[in-house]
Amino acid sequence: MQIETLPGVGAEITGVDLNKLTDAEFDAIRQAYADHGVIFFRDQDLTEDDHIAFAERWAPINVNRFFAAHPDYPQIAMVAKEKEQKDNIGGGWHTDHSYDQEPAMGSILVARVLPESGGDTMFASMYRAYETLDEATRTEIENLRAVHSAKHVFGTGENTYYKTTDAGGNRIGNAAAADVLTDVTHPVVITHPLSGKKALYVNPAFTVGIAGMDEEAGKELLTRLFAHAMDKGNAYRFQWQPGSVAFWDNRSTWHWALNDYHGHRRIMHRITLDGCALN
Ligand code: SIN
Repeated sequence: MQIETLPGVGAEITGVDLNKLTDAEFDAIRQAYADHGVIFFRDQDLTEDDHIAFAERWAPINVNRFFAAHPDYPQIAMVAKEKEQKDNIGGGWHTDHSYDQEPAMGSILVARVLPESGGDTMFASMYRAYETLDEATRTEIENLRAVHSAKHVFGTGENTYYKTTDAGGNRIGNAAAADVLTDVTHPVVITHPLSGKKALYVNPAFTVGIAGMDEEAGKELLTRLFAHAMDKGNAYRFQWQPGSVAFWDNRSTWHWALNDYHGHRRIMHRITLDGCALN
């Protein structure tokens, strides 16, 4: 098994079959996952059952409340866009489930149907985002907590998926459940539960304010942190091929599904894993 560090964020792991992992390979993959935040595999042959079995080696599966589920495998969320559809799912920088009190540990995405070109996914390192902050900003955010919410994304209000995109029909639903979800707070800087490294834990999709800070000042700080984290030096663009699998850590990375393949189909299967409270 070889582990190649990628520029910006992540590592590509080759020479391994995810259906036949030895304990030693599993341990090396766990270490790479903790160190790099996102790991990629090529040429895998995972059925839906294999995908679930691989996921369950890591943590219990966390079923997404808002995504349409696979018709035969409720554990698998469908990240789909049909030829005639305009909007994609995940088409902006975000990290999954930060609106939960115990945010998801990670997600495992398997490519099922790909457009001939386009449909890449961007990833960004929140370890690097933190490490490259200037000293004054690090001190400024040291003890702050940020507010995370799902309402404005998945709820019934204005500007939500449900209201403003064609994903809000049969691909993203259960909007009323988002309306009643209680917003949560997490530290702006977390100590990563696996690696022990510090990471910036705010994201443009779900982080809506800074606890105890006036709305305007909180937005200004978040805008600054987001702009810093979006730096190209923190990012890697992953090009999918048949058999590709991406496994990202939601606590140390962001991701963004590019929507540049209109008129073509893209079907991905995602399994998200339970996480823990963040400190
Ligand atoms: C997601 O945000 O989970 C989707 C990523 C992708 O489709 O590339």
